[in-house]
Amino acid sequence: MKIVSIIGARPQFIKYFMVSKALKKYKIKDILIHTGQHYDYLMSKVFFDELHIKKPDYNLGVGSCERDWQIKKIFKRSKQILVKEKPDAVLVYGDTNSTLGGAIAAIKAKVPLAHVEAGLRSYDKNMPEEKNRVLTDRLSSVLFCPSKRAVLNLKKEGFRQAAIFNTGDVMYDALLYSVDKAKKKTAIFRKLGVKKKSYCLFTMHRQVNTDNKRNFEKIINFINKVSRDNIIVFPMHPRAGKCYKKIKARFSGNVRIVKPVGYLDSVALLAGSRCLFTDSGGMQKEAYWLGIPCVTLREETEWPETLKGGWNVLLKNYKCFKKPGSRREPFYGDGRASERIAGVLIKWIKIL
Ligand code: UD1
Ligand code: UDP
Repeated sequence: MKIVSIIGARPQFIKYFMVSKALKKYKIKDILIHTGQHYDYLMSKVFFDELHIKKPDYNLGVGSCERDWQIKKIFKRSKQILVKEKPDAVLVYGDTNSTLGGAIAAIKAKVPLAHVEAGLRSYDKNMPEEKNRVLTDRLSSVLFCPSKRAVLNLKKEGFRQAAIFNTGDVMYDALLYSVDKAKKKTAIFRKLGVKKKSYCLFTMHRQVNTDNKRNFEKIINFINKVSRDNIIVFPMHPRAGKCYKKIKARFSGNVRIVKPVGYLDSVALLAGSRCLFTDSGGMQKEAYWLGIPCVTLREETEWPETLKGGWNVLLKNYKCFKKPGSRREPFYGDGRASERIAGVLIKWIKIL
């Protein structure tokens, strides 16, 4: 049995990392296409190096460009590879342009498509991610959902029940697998000159925040206010870096802007922080799993379970920094999502 995975952006390397381990365990041949959507060392290769992910079998080298053009390049180049490789199925992950480009390629090459992290909805159609996830779900034959709510979302939209599986979240698998190793990392704290629990972590990269001057400035004002009483560590995503150069507002001196970090350092920094401010999807959940209070710098979240018990708060509802006392429910599975995915693929491909 042969599966082709198509990935290209930072969180997808982390998702694939665990799924690839499970594919190996089930002796499924695993071909990897890297679209090249992310290409800087700190946005791509660092993950392959530190997580020992295999070298991609193909790199499409699409780079950065306008969304429609990027998706088109991904699907055209992936399709050629799929026609040659003739896999039993294609796996795409999450909600990026690489996800949708890969999904279209599978359909055009007439290869069955499976979507990891299916069924999530923010119900904000202006977000490219929302378009990518809705369209990818529609094109998929098998939908691997990270939560009960994701399954319900698909049911509400009339998806065929038989193809939907609640596997749990592969990012939870990755966190459980890596957290002990990450917590032993100390160099990053020395490098940044911060002690554990003496700082808050901050990340942002959503277009709605970076590419809109008013929203970017609103977030800068908010972070500067919080930074009066807290050191803020900000591993700056390249999209945010590019947009920051174009605006006048500046972060205060208590905001330590650094380059993006690798996954283990990211988990170490999060686990060692007092609080997270973010618009990242993956980091909202990681904060939840690690018991770190989070303020989500968006109007809504596709991970609403994390809002329960006050562990995650949307910016508009944020009043002050406080640690929630309530217990965290296991909304996203038990850390064995990747194995379930591999198990389902084996059975499902046999009945095709
Ligand atoms: C993409 C995904 C987003 C995901 C994020 C994870 C889409 C529509 N967006 O957003 O869902 O949460 O990845 O990080 O697919 N750049 C570099 N070096 C790189 C990559 C990007 O400098 O290695 C710069 C380029 O100027 C580029 C910009 O960042 O134009 C944005 O990159 P892009 O991949 O389009 O979107 P992200 O914001 O990274
Ligand atoms: N992350 C990382 N380095 C960083 C910032 C984040 O390794 O400098 C990790 C983070 O721990 C999480 C994933 O990247 O596992 C989230 O990716 P991102 O925020 O880019 O995308 P999203 O989850 O919003 O799609």
